[in-house]
Amino acid sequence: MKKRNPSKPLSNNQHLLKWVEKMVELCRPAAVHWVDGSEEERDELYALMVKTGTMTKLNEKLWPGCYYARSDASDVARVEERTFICSLSKENAGPTNNWVEPGEMRKKLKTLFHGCMVGRTMYVLPYSMGPIGSPISQIGVELTDSPYVVTNMRIMARIGMPVYAEIDKGEKMVVPCMHTVGMPLEPGQPDVPWPCNKEKYIVHFPETREIWSYGSGYGGNALLGKKCFALRIASNMARDEGWMAEHMLILGVEDPNGQKTYVAAAFPSACGKTNFAMLIPPANFKKKGWKVWTVGDDIAWIKPDANGQLRAINPEYGFFGVAPGTSTKTNPNAMAALAKNTIFTNVALTKDGGVWWEGMGEAPAECTDWQGNKWTPEIAEASGAKAAHPNSRFTAPASQCPTIDPAWENPEGVPISAFIFGGRRATTMPLIYQAFNWTSGVYVGATMGSEMTAAAAGTVGKVRRDPMAMLPFCGYHMGDYFRHWISMQRRVSEMPRIFHVNWFRRDANGKFMWPGFGENMRVLKWIVDRARGHGAAKETAIGWMPHYEDIDWTDIGFTRAQFEEIQAIDRKAWRAEVIGHEELFLDLHDHLPQELLHERQLLISRL
Ligand code: OXD
Ligand code: MN
Repeated sequence: MKKRNPSKPLSNNQHLLKWVEKMVELCRPAAVHWVDGSEEERDELYALMVKTGTMTKLNEKLWPGCYYARSDASDVARVEERTFICSLSKENAGPTNNWVEPGEMRKKLKTLFHGCMVGRTMYVLPYSMGPIGSPISQIGVELTDSPYVVTNMRIMARIGMPVYAEIDKGEKMVVPCMHTVGMPLEPGQPDVPWPCNKEKYIVHFPETREIWSYGSGYGGNALLGKKCFALRIASNMARDEGWMAEHMLILGVEDPNGQKTYVAAAFPSACGKTNFAMLIPPANFKKKGWKVWTVGDDIAWIKPDANGQLRAINPEYGFFGVAPGTSTKTNPNAMAALAKNTIFTNVALTKDGGVWWEGMGEAPAECTDWQGNKWTPEIAEASGAKAAHPNSRFTAPASQCPTIDPAWENPEGVPISAFIFGGRRATTMPLIYQAFNWTSGVYVGATMGSEMTAAAAGTVGKVRRDPMAMLPFCGYHMGDYFRHWISMQRRVSEMPRIFHVNWFRRDANGKFMWPGFGENMRVLKWIVDRARGHGAAKETAIGWMPHYEDIDWTDIGFTRAQFEEIQAIDRKAWRAEVIGHEELFLDLHDHLPQELLHERQLLISRL
């Protein structure tokens, strides 16, 4: 790895100290707490939050080591419209990001952060994204006035003393991350369980690799190692340094001979990424000895090694998963991971000190909903009230997942043999196809989309283009990001094969044609076969597709006719699809690589 300029700020603990002093002067906290990451510290923070009403300790017998938090009703999700990429020029941020001139934004932030921590403690939280010491890992320090953030980050990243030691080596630049809930406490003023400001700013300065987050305590807005660093800032680092920061799960498929093949997959939100990462193969696959191992469920950092082999790490240490829909039926591995030492946010609280959410299993006769109100199935029936917020979350240690891959903390990462793109598409997109080559695969990823589900009237079913599932997370111009993807070909000796899947195609009656979940293993096996260069396929207008015989259908009774229906290429629908691609390309036109325009032409002529 290229050695960074050690004179940059924060490249050792002396510089860290100076920066913290400066930020204390700006934010004026009542106290400063240097996070060491110990268990004693964790217990003290939980005790403090139980006292202030931020957290409730769950029943230790049912949910050992687990805590429950309820957010302010206005602070429940990422705020894309308040997220800014303040690059030096608007052009560098591109048309898919919000941009404000950096000088103007700095002025605004200085005003907002001035005195923002009065009456509160500033926590100095050093963290490593990726195993400490891995050549692919990166370091950040988050200054935050939220103990909720510290305890969540403790699960989501490696934190504390070992990270100070890493910083003091001065080998890696440290990303400074400022976070405040934006609610100073005047003397004598009582605190609230979930302080947050109505005004929110999630700001990134890509050139100086800085993050400033104001006004929210929630997940993706406040746990700055995740979306802000590991995707928006890291995508900039990756472009500059020749690697990839992607919104992808990583899993390993082990065949009956014990040989492992790792794949990374990008799906937009609400398409079952966590379920796919923790897939349990159908019985006949298990019997033969197939296993699926989990490396990560949300983010992948991928770098060519000295031999030009792409290797990936999961920069995270935990899962920040959507709770509703998660059950022992849909994802037993996630349920095992969250069974202890987990923080639950905005789910429902049961009478016996446990948690519940829609889709977990039988509803309790009565519980307290995510807003603190009484909830019963009858009330839900009458009013439609949800017990858990649809975006309620669990923050669970990855190490507790039964299928966590033995190599998940390998500092060198795992070798990647295939990329999979996918979305939620009722029509047009077949269950599975393989792109012809790297460039056509980049085109497949660049044009991927997903249907909006519960959006406003008139938009249900409308396809939102979400290139590589990175639309809200790419920290620079999307056209340049495509160019970077194409250019990776020059750095890698053997390119991973690229595939597209769609678990959500519906028939003429609106019924899902594919059962999904563990059955996805059948498709995954074909992908692995192809990636190893020995699976059969036929050429079609959009790419390579399996014949019916190329997939193992034991015990599922999926007929040839069903397969042909789910794989059908409707040329009329595909022409409309290609016109849909044009919409995004028009926005990006002046930065769009020629290769993608050529791919579009080729696709049109094949159709
Ligand atoms: C997430 C997201 O929370 O993609 O992972 O929004
Ligand atoms: Mn995500």
